[in-house]
Amino acid sequence: MDISSKGFIFFLQVLILSSVSAVTNTINSTQRISDGETLVSSGGTFELGFFSPGNSTNRYIGMWHRNLASRIIIWVANREVPIRNTTNVFLTVTEPGILVLINETDNITIWSSNTSRTVQNPIAQSLDSGNLVVRDMNDDRPENFLWQSFDYPTDTYLPGMRMGWNFVTGLEVYLRSWRSNDDPAPGDISYHLDPTGYPQLLLNRGDDDVVYRIGPWNGVRFSGSPNAIEDPTYNLSFVMNENELQYWENSLSSSVFSRITVNQSGVAHRWTWVDRRGWVAYINMPVDLCDTYASCGPYGICNVGNSPPCGCLDRFVPRVLNDWLRTDWTSGCIRRTNLSCGGDVFRRYSGIKLPDVRFSWHNVSMTIQECRAECLRNCSCTAYTQLDISRRSGCLIWYTDLIDIRSFSPNGQDIYIRLASSESDSEGKNRTVLIASLASVIGVVLIGLVLFLCIWKRKNYTKIRGGLQDGSHKKDSELPLFDLSTILKATNNFSFNNKLGEGGFGPVYKGILEGGQEIAVKRLSKNSMQGLDELKNEVVFIAKLQHRNLVRLLGCCIQEEENKTKSMLLDWEKRFNIINGVARGLLYLHQDSRLRIIHRDLKASNVLLDSEMNPKISDFGMARSFVGNETQAKTHRVVGTYGYMSPEYAVDGLFSVKSDVFSFGVLVLEIVSGKRNRGFSHIDHNLNLLGHAWTLYKEDRPLDLVDASLGNSFYFSEVVRSVHVALLCVQQNPKDRPSMSSVVMMLGNEDVLLPQSKQPGFFNERDVLADHGSTSTNAPTSTNEMSITMPEGR
Ligand SMILES: *[C@@H]1O[C@H](CO)[C@@H](O)[C@H](O)[C@H]1NC(C)=O
Ligand SMILES: *[C@@H]1O[C@H](CO)[C@@H](O)[C@H](O)[C@H]1NC(C)=O
Ligand SMILES: *[C@@H]1O[C@H](CO)[C@@H](O)[C@H](O)[C@H]1NC(C)=O
Ligand SMILES: *[C@@H]1O[C@H](CO)[C@@H](O)[C@H](O)[C@H]1NC(C)=O
Ligand SMILES: *[C@@H]1O[C@H](CO)[C@@H](O)[C@H](O)[C@H]1NC(C)=O
Ligand SMILES: *[C@@H]1O[C@H](CO)[C@@H](O)[C@H](O)[C@H]1NC(C)=O
Ligand SMILES: *[C@@H]1O[C@H](CO)[C@@H](O)[C@H](O)[C@H]1NC(C)=O
Ligand SMILES: *[C@@H]1O[C@H](CO)[C@@H](O)[C@H](O)[C@H]1NC(C)=O
Ligand SMILES: *[C@@H]1O[C@H](CO)[C@@H](O)[C@H](O)[C@H]1NC(C)=O
Ligand SMILES: *[C@@H]1O[C@H](CO)[C@@H](O)[C@H](O)[C@H]1NC(C)=O
Ligand SMILES: *[C@@H]1O[C@H](CO)[C@@H](O)[C@H](O)[C@H]1NC(C)=O
Repeated sequence: MDISSKGFIFFLQVLILSSVSAVTNTINSTQRISDGETLVSSGGTFELGFFSPGNSTNRYIGMWHRNLASRIIIWVANREVPIRNTTNVFLTVTEPGILVLINETDNITIWSSNTSRTVQNPIAQSLDSGNLVVRDMNDDRPENFLWQSFDYPTDTYLPGMRMGWNFVTGLEVYLRSWRSNDDPAPGDISYHLDPTGYPQLLLNRGDDDVVYRIGPWNGVRFSGSPNAIEDPTYNLSFVMNENELQYWENSLSSSVFSRITVNQSGVAHRWTWVDRRGWVAYINMPVDLCDTYASCGPYGICNVGNSPPCGCLDRFVPRVLNDWLRTDWTSGCIRRTNLSCGGDVFRRYSGIKLPDVRFSWHNVSMTIQECRAECLRNCSCTAYTQLDISRRSGCLIWYTDLIDIRSFSPNGQDIYIRLASSESDSEGKNRTVLIASLASVIGVVLIGLVLFLCIWKRKNYTKIRGGLQDGSHKKDSELPLFDLSTILKATNNFSFNNKLGEGGFGPVYKGILEGGQEIAVKRLSKNSMQGLDELKNEVVFIAKLQHRNLVRLLGCCIQEEENKTKSMLLDWEKRFNIINGVARGLLYLHQDSRLRIIHRDLKASNVLLDSEMNPKISDFGMARSFVGNETQAKTHRVVGTYGYMSPEYAVDGLFSVKSDVFSFGVLVLEIVSGKRNRGFSHIDHNLNLLGHAWTLYKEDRPLDLVDASLGNSFYFSEVVRSVHVALLCVQQNPKDRPSMSSVVMMLGNEDVLLPQSKQPGFFNERDVLADHGSTSTNAPTSTNEMSITMPEGR
């Protein structure tokens, strides 16, 4: 029973407190605390008294940590009623059991606590938890309080305080920020355990505006709480029944001081006291951009690792594409395929912070199977998940659009979202195979390889050598020639283990020369369909071409080799890099190289990828060089690969740089979609990939073309631009197609306004086959046709 006053007495009390802890920490109805006097908790941890906040001269009754160097107010009694002159003002406790702040001059109650009970001998006590309580002097039951400050916190949470709801009394315990550093009156920001739907922690501005949603309780923690890692200094308890909904922290170490605050800017902090450093804020909430409520709209998913952070959930597309292109994501996404109710399926999305649960339904005893059945039963159910991840039980169901989802690895959870049956997982596997296959077609990883050539028969080898030396390109030829024995040694006698792949013109082997240089050896087989002409052609061209997007020295066609490359999935960034690399390589061929070359057989399988996924155009077996102002040539020997050949070339044998541009356009659409042009099929129409892309372009849905395996990891404007440029490249009339220099510029420059695309050539592939079937049978086309056959889904 000790009310210290400032000065000597106060100093004395400090001495007493530090030696004996017998000092009382209570006041009764005959005792009072006036300005300058304080009430100290039994262990000396907390102190209650008058203070003035910030630069204000107003006086308030408040509580602070007593022995810490900096005084931070953790609770204020009269936060809405400042006292301007504390003369004759004091705090005491009166019957029936209320704390009162009284102005004795005119006997006015400035502030009071309240109670629903009446006791004979009420006392107020300051506890070492930071709680100020009113109880009956003779009632020793620890929790039987008439009133406690922990039920009326201001902007600070202390361990042991129970946040949430008492449904019997209707009392909600929540935090509310100060109005300013000078004014502890209630500010705009509040921190609630919101009971709507399934409970979750919310940081609100004003009454309804959610600033940040920490998320629902999942049995272990709040789904999106940043301190998901177990902290040795406290653990969490959560209670939910018809009488109460509460959560609190249990402090596991009495020597650690911590608190959570909300400030008026809408930031919550977790502070810990560190000797010599003071209060350290080691968690700020919201943590990052993705914590801003609903920033990516319904079915959008926010991932701070991406730029921009917003994407659509897999199998979803932007609702309003133009908004997304303008980086306004709030309109969110919609299912790529509409639900049909009956026969819908669920797809699991992992590693996420659960969406807003304010309009959800739950049952704590259902199993996940019952949960799924319940969701399937009702057509307006959009998703379900397990309620309690520690007990692996319970059911949480959403009946509304899913809002405020973020990727939250490694602490994210699973959610099962309703999709149309055509989007089912079994189809998902097919899609994965498709992209894996495309990746394998795009190339085999060659680690800094220099390609060399080897001929099966020594006779031929000599003939080639002779041919090269006799040829008109003799002086230009810088190709080093190797003995067969050297090559045999390097490739371990063409060992099977060294085989990189099987090209249409023969197998390719990896080898190591005596100097340690890695090489790839293309072995021309006896049965090779590649004539000596093509071979010579290739050798001569490659020897003279040097560009980082061309195979150095000698290229060859690598056929798909699934086992080696199945795992080689390409994300959008890599794909875009490949598109740009091929464009630059082709530009070099067309304009910048000494020779000015039309490749004539550009296709996925002629693009090799090095270890950094940089593309290298290869296989110059069919390339033609042209000179001066010559822009077009005619051949009666149409070579190339169907699906990539431009109409004027396939039909009339006319080739020009614009036929390469056409092939490039096809290749880009294949890279974006993960599907082959030839063999492409769609349930809605009989168009090939070009036709399909054209249809989507006209309907303003270019993103629907995108490979499903890209998920949300792509940058929309790059995709839209790539598709648009590709469609410009495959236009029917060669004159309409852009040159490769325009292509490189259009791809690389966001600001270039793209012209409207006209209808592509070979819009419907079967027209071509029907009308010009004779062309295809007469003309020798690239024999590795096989490499572009669409693999079937399994
Ligand atoms: C209040 O406490 C003081 C000091 O212990 C004591 O003298 C006084 O009788 C108490 N008053 C009541 C009403 O209990
Ligand atoms: C108090 O006033 C001074 C000078 O006007 C200012 O620098 C300081 O930030 C103020 N402190 C608070 C807590 O507002
Ligand atoms: C207390 O009462 C006196 C006299 O009525 C008045 O002047 C003073 O402003 C009052 N103080 C407070 C804090 O209300
Ligand atoms: C507070 O009020 C008392 C009497 O009502 C008066 O004597 C004193 O000057 C006032 N103090 C201030 C700072 O106004
Ligand atoms: C102050 O007012 C209360 C009721 O409001 C009354 O019970 C009490 O006797 C008054 N005290 C004085 C000193 O006037
Ligand atoms: C106590 O006071 C608070 C605010 O002043 C009020 O909301 C609450 O209903 C009161 N409780 C009781 C039991 O009177
Ligand atoms: C939290 O810690 C308290 C005190 O050590 C202990 O009683 C309680 O069981 C713990 N709760 C959980 C959920 O671990
Ligand atoms: C609230 O906290 C944030 C983050 O620490 C800080 O930037 C901001 O200035 C604080 N607001 C106020 C009013 O102190
Ligand atoms: C899908 O549903 C939306 C909204 O109900 C509707 O506007 C759209 O036309 C539907 N799409 C298809 C292909 O049925
Ligand atoms: C919750 O699920 C259990 C088990 O399926 C069932 O017995 C109970 O009736 C359900 N409760 C509600 C409110 O639906
Ligand atoms: C489906 O759920 C919604 C939302 O809970 C409800 O309004 C509707 O009655 C349910 N329909 C059926 C058939 O159960």
